[in-house]
Amino acid sequence: MKADAVLVLNFGGQYCHLIGRRIRDMGVYSEVVPNDITPEGIKGLSNNLNVKGIILSGGPSSIYDKDAPQMDARILDMGLPVLGICYGHQLLAKYLKGKVIRAPKQEYGIAHSRIRKTDAVLSGLGRVEQVWMSHGDRVLSVPKGIDVLASTENCPIAAFSHSARRIFGVQWHPEVVHTRNGNKVLSNFVLDICGARKTWNATGTASKYVDEIKSRVGDRRAILAMSGGVDSSTAALIASKALGKRLTAVFVDTGMMRKDEAKSIKAMASRLGINLVVVDAAREFMAALRGVSDPEQKRKIIGREFIRSFEKVAKKVGADYLIQGTIYPDRIESGKSSKSSVIKTHHNVGGIPEQIKFKGIIDPLRDLYKDEVRRLATKLGMPRQMVHRQPFPGPGLAVRILGEVTKEKLDMLRAAESIVSQEMERSGEASKAWQYFAVLTGSRSTGVKGDARAYGHVIAIRSVDSTEAMTANFSRIPYDVLENISTRITGEIPSVVRVVYDITNKPPSTIEWE
Ligand code: XMP
Repeated sequence: MKADAVLVLNFGGQYCHLIGRRIRDMGVYSEVVPNDITPEGIKGLSNNLNVKGIILSGGPSSIYDKDAPQMDARILDMGLPVLGICYGHQLLAKYLKGKVIRAPKQEYGIAHSRIRKTDAVLSGLGRVEQVWMSHGDRVLSVPKGIDVLASTENCPIAAFSHSARRIFGVQWHPEVVHTRNGNKVLSNFVLDICGARKTWNATGTASKYVDEIKSRVGDRRAILAMSGGVDSSTAALIASKALGKRLTAVFVDTGMMRKDEAKSIKAMASRLGINLVVVDAAREFMAALRGVSDPEQKRKIIGREFIRSFEKVAKKVGADYLIQGTIYPDRIESGKSSKSSVIKTHHNVGGIPEQIKFKGIIDPLRDLYKDEVRRLATKLGMPRQMVHRQPFPGPGLAVRILGEVTKEKLDMLRAAESIVSQEMERSGEASKAWQYFAVLTGSRSTGVKGDARAYGHVIAIRSVDSTEAMTANFSRIPYDVLENISTRITGEIPSVVRVVYDITNKPPSTIEWE
């Protein structure tokens, strides 16, 4: 039996894949496809799928940009229900002969939408809904026959419906957790309007990933980039099922890791039964980063140094392939998904140099989000504390030191990091947060230590709650825990005079500071 599916046309928005995820979480199959797919292309997909509806994602462009991404308007005549989100909402309004204008100021963040009609796609919503907005243009008017369903202070037409043609638009992002009833909007569309059946089972097996590695590597050898995090450890479990003794996992000690990281990774690899090589490359990394303070340049240098270290090991063990634990958000933020812009170059994606000595790089988990990887890891029998280990970025502490990385700064940050971890664990806050850490802000400030003026460093504490790292909220840590952290950091690290707490959500910030 063919699965019912809803297609998401990708206009390059950061949240495009979240839409797909939310639909899959509902139990309905969803696929993200390029924005320029044609009706013929959609019919082609129908060999394997019952396409029941179309969603147009948001995107970074203005519909007034010269090369603003378009869609094949014939899709609107296919008789399928269509829902436009943000940029998609504006594009639909334009195709339906409505008026879209550039808003005097961009609208970013939480807004309150007045729901005029709890109809169709907005059925079941309250009169005022908290929604998440991120847009420049806005829809000003729509022609007769189209109902205005909602408005916000800055947006007269925040949602509309053309019931006869089953075409709908919402200016806000229902897929983002900050939109309180976002899932209701999506399920109204997918389940009620499109009538899609819940035939998709998200508990897929690891065998598809094992098979991919087997077929690409054949009878050759591979090395696996192991950082000790859940992504690369899950990739390691899968790769070792595929290749057995032909796999060598490699941990590169960049000198920018957390305290005792190498020790804990060795213990982890032996627990998972994975053959691990540890390379001490701290000198090379530090030398390559000397004098560099631009964050993107730092990330690219780190990506290159990682590859050079992996190439050396590959040569020794006769491996032709490199397997990585890259996951979907790494690719989106590195701008490696068509039409999304570069937020930051993740070392394992955009940081890879053009010339490499591998026959191929395999990223088996490339389409998964962190929570999906965690589910897969649990299924593969990974111990709970490894599955829920907090994420740590590949470039390590280098992206938590703003400006040039030096040994002195690394030592300072490592000491602060260790205090943050201890206090978060001791207070029980650690288990609630997605990720928590210290940042060396690069700024200096005046303080007073031992009755004398002190001019020293400023450390920021960052702790966030998230489910997929594409969006995050700062954690509401109790003041007494923050106070303990601050007192210990300023007391135990002589060169630090001030500790601040980062109260920004993602977006507009990212989780890491660089
Ligand atoms: P941002 O800072 O982009 O972080 O909001 C999202 C998640 O990704 C982690 N991160 C990285 N992980 N290589 C990685 O393996 C990288 O270059 C990288 N940069 C950020 C970050 O810690 C957070 O969990």
